[in-house]
Amino acid sequence: MSETIYDVPAAWAKKAHLNDAKYKKMYAASIKDPDKFWGEQGKRIDWFKPYTKVRNASYKPGKVSIKWYEDGTTNVAYNCVDRHLATRAKQTAIIWEGDDPSESKKITYGQLYTEVCKFANVLKANGVKKGDRVTIYMPMIPEAAYAMLACARIGAVHSIVFGGFSPDSLSGRIEGATSDVVITADEGLRGGRKVPLKVNVDAAAEKVPVKTVIVVKRTGGDVAMKEGRDVWYHEEAAKVSGHCPPAEMKAEDPLFILYTSGSTGKPKGVLHTTGGYLVYAAITHQYVFDYHDGDIYWCTADVGWVTGHSYIVYGPLANGATTLMFEGIPTYPSISRFWDVVDKHKVNTFYTAPTAIRSLMGAGEEPVKRTKRKSLRLLGSVGEPINPEAWEWYHRVVGDRRCPIVDTWWQTETGGILITPLPGATKLKPGSATRPFFGVKPEIVDAEGKVLEGATEGNLVLAESWPGQMRTVYGDHKRFEETYFATYPNKYFTGDGCRRDADGYYWITGRVDDVINVSGHRMGTAEVESALVAHPKVSEAAVVGYPHDIKGQGIYAYVTLMSGEMPSEALRKELVGHVRKEIGPIASPDLIQFSPGLPKTRSGKIMRRILRKIAEDEFGALGDTSTLADPAVVEDLIANRQNKR
Ligand code: PRX
Repeated sequence: MSETIYDVPAAWAKKAHLNDAKYKKMYAASIKDPDKFWGEQGKRIDWFKPYTKVRNASYKPGKVSIKWYEDGTTNVAYNCVDRHLATRAKQTAIIWEGDDPSESKKITYGQLYTEVCKFANVLKANGVKKGDRVTIYMPMIPEAAYAMLACARIGAVHSIVFGGFSPDSLSGRIEGATSDVVITADEGLRGGRKVPLKVNVDAAAEKVPVKTVIVVKRTGGDVAMKEGRDVWYHEEAAKVSGHCPPAEMKAEDPLFILYTSGSTGKPKGVLHTTGGYLVYAAITHQYVFDYHDGDIYWCTADVGWVTGHSYIVYGPLANGATTLMFEGIPTYPSISRFWDVVDKHKVNTFYTAPTAIRSLMGAGEEPVKRTKRKSLRLLGSVGEPINPEAWEWYHRVVGDRRCPIVDTWWQTETGGILITPLPGATKLKPGSATRPFFGVKPEIVDAEGKVLEGATEGNLVLAESWPGQMRTVYGDHKRFEETYFATYPNKYFTGDGCRRDADGYYWITGRVDDVINVSGHRMGTAEVESALVAHPKVSEAAVVGYPHDIKGQGIYAYVTLMSGEMPSEALRKELVGHVRKEIGPIASPDLIQFSPGLPKTRSGKIMRRILRKIAEDEFGALGDTSTLADPAVVEDLIANRQNKR
């Protein structure tokens, strides 16, 4: 917790869209009469047929239903591209910065129109129709954005799978979305290394039926093309026109599915729809980043995560912004890369994750200070709690004490930012996401669901619907209701713990469920456990998070081997490799403790609370262990705990 308060810089209070008084007035109006507020805000996008209904949302148990602008029709690609052509055809829409600093290009809105239309026509020519699901497994190249917008243009539903996921994870998501078309590239390029995307798609397609694979040429590496299934994008694109009419979509037609980890079971397909999502992405992009025409805006996320969807592609493009898309990594070819890119493209707004800041902090100030960063005006943070030390470094070293930091709290499920400072309006406290965005009504509840008032701590729920909210778990509405609306009836449960201070500022304390947040990537402990037990030498596994200096949380796995198997360093490596292969490198356990037994209740339930405490080195706080079937197990676990340094 930090006591320092940073006032809104005078220049910001003058120039920004919002100051404190305006924020308070608009916030009060948004809560008092949401229909009026969002009815007006809905007009920030163009509609083919205007809506007459604004909000129709119920969190009633068994009857959860969320609809916004339901009788209006529109098209997301039309809003992100076509409607800007009259005024912005020559303005840069996307600045692409390649992995290799010698490679970059600028795509104007005029060019974006042609590229998106061509991609849409290629999809159509390959049999993709309105409502079909298209899996996108791409590197960070402009074609990833073209593919997303092309799907939106013809009413197909995209499901992006992050390029770091394994073939197994990819096939699970292709199957979950019942998608028979995959868009990929020959290879990705990150930090000078090639990522075998097409090879991974081939491996995934051995497990699930895939009818068509559209392959964008990125590296020109040698890849096998399967006759009758695989087509080269550039060959297909040469055959089609650069015009394609946008499909008229209902506001509640699906826009995309994005898989994300939960506390139990397989990843869930979070479904977002058309009208409300775009309105919410656009309004938050405008106010949170105080976007003005001419700004150069850079979000360092990957389009494989929700941040890339809402704040690289949809929000900025809906606002006619110039959005920077970066293929590489922060440390290549040097640890100054982020700041070199800022100087090269005169970036004004820079939005990244705390884990990146913490890892760069480790290299000291010099790699930052040798760059100018004069163009920077605003910094942002997302994905995990930012510790005050990293916040202060970001503010002092990167932003030269000149740039406010917006610490934005939200989730894949929320579609857009919900709790955040607004740079012209909000005094900052390092480590706090501060105050709710318009229309967002956070509440803090205790375990029984009692709403706690004033300065307090508990679980974070949201009492009202907002337009960007997810509508269902794809193909499993029951799971949607059970995951988010059953714990506290009539409220959306976030899964996060939260503290509210005497100024009404919110401080997210981290997940209270079995989800861990590793370098800003969300990981279900159950997924890692099931990957571990799939190994023939493993009998049982329990996975928990522990505090990690750079990643925020690390993955700590307790593993019980099959009888007759002996623990060894080689086996440890083998298990790490196994999890990487099953899920992907982001799920690699940081520490594996071989343990002859796990702490269980007499009914056989693993007591994860105890495992968490041991992983956190908090042996004094193990709590009640008297219900354990075999209390001696705990002694052994403590004695053999893995060293974190
Ligand atoms: O625990 C919260 C954390 O990330 C979770 C959502 O992860 P995901 O769906 O992958 O979306 C990440 C990008 C929006 C949340 O439940 N989280 C996200 N932003 C913050 C955060 N925790 C603290 N502060 C934040 N600013």
